[in-house]
Amino acid sequence: MKKIAILGVTGSIGLSTIEVVRQHPDEFKIVLASANNNHQKLFTLTREFSIPNIVITNKDFENRITDYPENTNIKFGEENLLEALKTIDFDIVLNAIFGSAGLKSTMTVLSRGIDLALANKESLVMAGHLIQKMQTDSKLIPVDSEHSAIFQAIGTTPLDEIKSAILTASGGPFRKLPLNEFDKITIEQTLSHPTWNMGAKVTVDSATMMNKGLEVIEAHWLFNKDFSEIKTVIHPQSIIHSFIEFVDGSIMAQMSFPTMKLPILFALSYPYHIKSNISKSNILDFPDLTFSEVERERYPLFFLAKKAGETGGLVPTILNSANEAAIDLFLKNKIHFNQIYELVDFSISTENNVHHPSLDTIIQTNSEIYKKIIRDYKNILS
Ligand SMILES: NC(=O)c1ccc[n+]([C@@H]2O[C@H](COP(=O)([O-])OP(=O)(O)OC[C@H]3O[C@@H](n4cnc5c(N)ncnc54)[C@H](OP(=O)(O)O)[C@@H]3O)[C@@H](O)[C@H]2O)c1
Repeated sequence: MKKIAILGVTGSIGLSTIEVVRQHPDEFKIVLASANNNHQKLFTLTREFSIPNIVITNKDFENRITDYPENTNIKFGEENLLEALKTIDFDIVLNAIFGSAGLKSTMTVLSRGIDLALANKESLVMAGHLIQKMQTDSKLIPVDSEHSAIFQAIGTTPLDEIKSAILTASGGPFRKLPLNEFDKITIEQTLSHPTWNMGAKVTVDSATMMNKGLEVIEAHWLFNKDFSEIKTVIHPQSIIHSFIEFVDGSIMAQMSFPTMKLPILFALSYPYHIKSNISKSNILDFPDLTFSEVERERYPLFFLAKKAGETGGLVPTILNSANEAAIDLFLKNKIHFNQIYELVDFSISTENNVHHPSLDTIIQTNSEIYKKIIRDYKNILS
C-alpha cells in the first residue's frame, strides 16, 4: 500500500484523487491532506479516510474552528504544510494546489527526494529552470492529461528518438463563437466547458487557451524539448490527450474518454497500470476525431504564453501572476473576458526580465505583479 499526501484535496483534482483512492482502498493510504478554506469538506474526508495529518493553509481559520476531527493532527498555515512535507513518511505526494501557491510545496517535496505527482503546472511554468537543475531522487510524474499522455507514450524511449510532442486542446466553449461577440462573453458561458469538469481558474484558462500555453511551457521542462518541438492542435472531442512523433516519422497517441481520474491513477500507481473500473473506454464508442490549427486571433493568450516560455527567465512568472490576477477580476465581474489578455500583455511588456531568477525572486515577483494588477487594473485598462 502506498502512503500518499494530497495537497489541495478539496479542489477538482483533489476530489478526483479522492475518488481514485475510494475505488482502490487496498492500494493507497492518505497520510496527509491539505485545503485552504474548505475545512468542512476537509474534515468530512478526514473522518471517512481516517487521515492522520491535515493542514488548513489559510491561517485565518486557526481560532475560528471548533468541530475538529478526533485522532488527527491538525495544523494551520503554509509553513506548517511545508514542515509536514519535510517530516511525514510518504511514498508519493500529489500536488493539486491552485496556481502559484503550489510552488513552495513542489520545491519542498523535490528537495526531500520524494516522488511527486504534479498537477500544479504553475510550479514548472515559474521555476522549471530550477526544478530541471535540482539533484533529486524524486520521480516527477505529470498529472495533466496531456503530459501524462506524452509520458505514457514515451515510456522508456530515449528522448533523442522523439522528434516532437503534439498537445491536444479542446478549444473550450468559444471555439466557434464569432470574434465580434467576444466582448459580450459572460462568466457563466466561460465556466461551462464542453468536455472537462475543472476548477474555475483552469476553466477560464481553457476558454482563453492560456491553459494550453502554460502546458507548452510545462512540456518544455518535463520532456526537455525545445519550443519548436512542441506543437498544439485543436481536438474538440478530447479523446486523444496528446501525441508523440518519433524521429522516424511514426506517431503515437494516448486515448480515453475525458476523465482526470485516469492520469491521476497512473501517476499514483506509476510505473504500473493497475486494474481499475475508472474508465470503460470502448473504441467503437469514440466519436469522429477531428483536428485543426489554433487560431491566433481567437486565442491570443495561447501565443503570448508560448512567447513568454521562449523568452524564459522571469517572464513566465509575470505572465502567470498577471493572468491569475486578471482571472480573479474577471470572476468578480470587474473586467471583461477580452481584458484578461490586455492585462497580461501589459505586464509582460512593461516589467523587466531577470534571467535565471532565484526562487525568492520568483516568489516576490509573483506576489508584486498580482497585487499591482488588482490595485491598478482600472488605470492600466483606461
Ligand atoms: N481541474 C483539472 O481538471 C485540472 C487538470 C489538469 C491540471 N490541473 C491543475 O491542477 C491544479 C489544481 O486545479 P483544480 O482545478 O483542482 O483547482 P481548484 O478546484 O481551484 O482547487 C484548488 C485546491 O487548492 C487549494 N488552494 C487554493 N488556494 C490555495 C492556497 N493559496 N494555498 C494552498 N492551497 C490552496 C484549494 O483549497 P480550498 O478548496 O479549501 O479553497 C483546493 O483544495 C492547478 O494547478 C491546475 O492547473 C487541473
